[in-house]
Amino acid sequence: MKKILITGGAGFIGSHVMRLFVNKYPDYMVVNLDKLTYAGNLANLSDIEDKPNYEFIKGDIVDAPFIDQLFAEHKFDGVIHLAAESHVDRSISNPLEFVMTNVIGTVNLLNAARNEWKDNFSGHRFYHVSTDEVYGSLGETGMFTETTAYDPHSPYSASKASSDHFVRAYHDTYGLNTVISNCSNNYGSFHFPEKLIPLSINNIKNNKPIPIYGKGENIRDWLWVEDHARAIDLIYHKAKPGSTYNIGGHNEWKNIDLIQLLCKIMDKKLNRAEGESARLITFVKDRAGHDLRYAIDSSKLQRELGWLPSLQFEEGLEKTVDWYLANEEWLKNVTSGDYMNYYEEQYVKR
Ligand code: NAD
Ligand code: DAU
Repeated sequence: MKKILITGGAGFIGSHVMRLFVNKYPDYMVVNLDKLTYAGNLANLSDIEDKPNYEFIKGDIVDAPFIDQLFAEHKFDGVIHLAAESHVDRSISNPLEFVMTNVIGTVNLLNAARNEWKDNFSGHRFYHVSTDEVYGSLGETGMFTETTAYDPHSPYSASKASSDHFVRAYHDTYGLNTVISNCSNNYGSFHFPEKLIPLSINNIKNNKPIPIYGKGENIRDWLWVEDHARAIDLIYHKAKPGSTYNIGGHNEWKNIDLIQLLCKIMDKKLNRAEGESARLITFVKDRAGHDLRYAIDSSKLQRELGWLPSLQFEEGLEKTVDWYLANEEWLKNVTSGDYMNYYEEQYVKR
């Protein structure tokens, strides 16, 4: 039986990757290593927690002796590394936390993998899940390709860029069998409500202002999270050692247009008069260093591995709204306690 370590499996994307692997590969033992920060939630995995090929381990990737011990004990065949601090606004208020988890944590995993796998690098894969934000910001035209130069602007993207460089360095220097993917903005179920789409759904539902940074003209390229998980599955199994793939849905939306569409869907779902939810739109102070536009060219992934996004955005957004409205308890649990303090600091006191 193959044993795969997935880090950050209790987070948004990690939980979808975990679910896909546990269900699709009953002959793999899938181990979920997660610190359970504010963003990690075992309730995201309640449908697979009793499966015989799933194991959860609580732990911190910043703790090097613990990581070394874990690799020595478990003899993993491969790693899919998603654990990270992932929210740009939090990186602006606390950059060091991002350096610790995203850079030091990644290097700890690379060191443990290098040490454990040194006699057979080619038989063990280290897959690092990264972001399109490492490429910086686009003007009105063009797209990020796998050869676009790195140009990160936020502490979050700088920490992810740094971790990508370390992963490539371990391939080039030591011969570790690494792959990296850089994906655009994901959306779907289990998305923590600090991010634009779930935050707006939650606020619309509660008749609270929808905070739009600046003029709402920034553009993001949105991808259904399950399509990202499918891409990760393909890349983990099929990509050449040392390769990189961009993942994205060719689905660019100006923030304000996206929120207008969301308001329309919410009006319908909540039986509100047309235009009622849109009245909650409130323009607030812009994010510092706010990247204008992201757009991903995923043609390499489509051409080489046959991946295609499966859902139209309008359909995916409606499914997402349905999920949040049907999972009030989940939303209530993750927005109690610490979330209230975060919200106060980020939106009320500013
Ligand atoms: P998330 O914040 O929802 O989840 C992160 C998970 O990592 C949580 O379960 C958390 O508990 C865990 N974690 C954090 N610090 C840890 C530590 N020190 N040790 C162990 N576990 C720790 O993040 P996400 O949105 O699911 O993103 C997952 C990965 O995908 C990240 O690497 C992110 O950079 C990347 N990514 C995200 C997006 C997106 O749109 N969300 C797009 C492209 C790439
Ligand atoms: O591009 C991939 C990245 O997408 C991932 O690497 C990150 O982990 C993920 O958080 C996401 O980053 P963004 O900064 O693009 O996502 P966020 O949801 O925070 O913001 C999306 C856009 O909406 C961005 O232009 C900022 C804006 N925004 C965001 C929030 C939270 C608002 O206008 N108001 C808000 O309250």
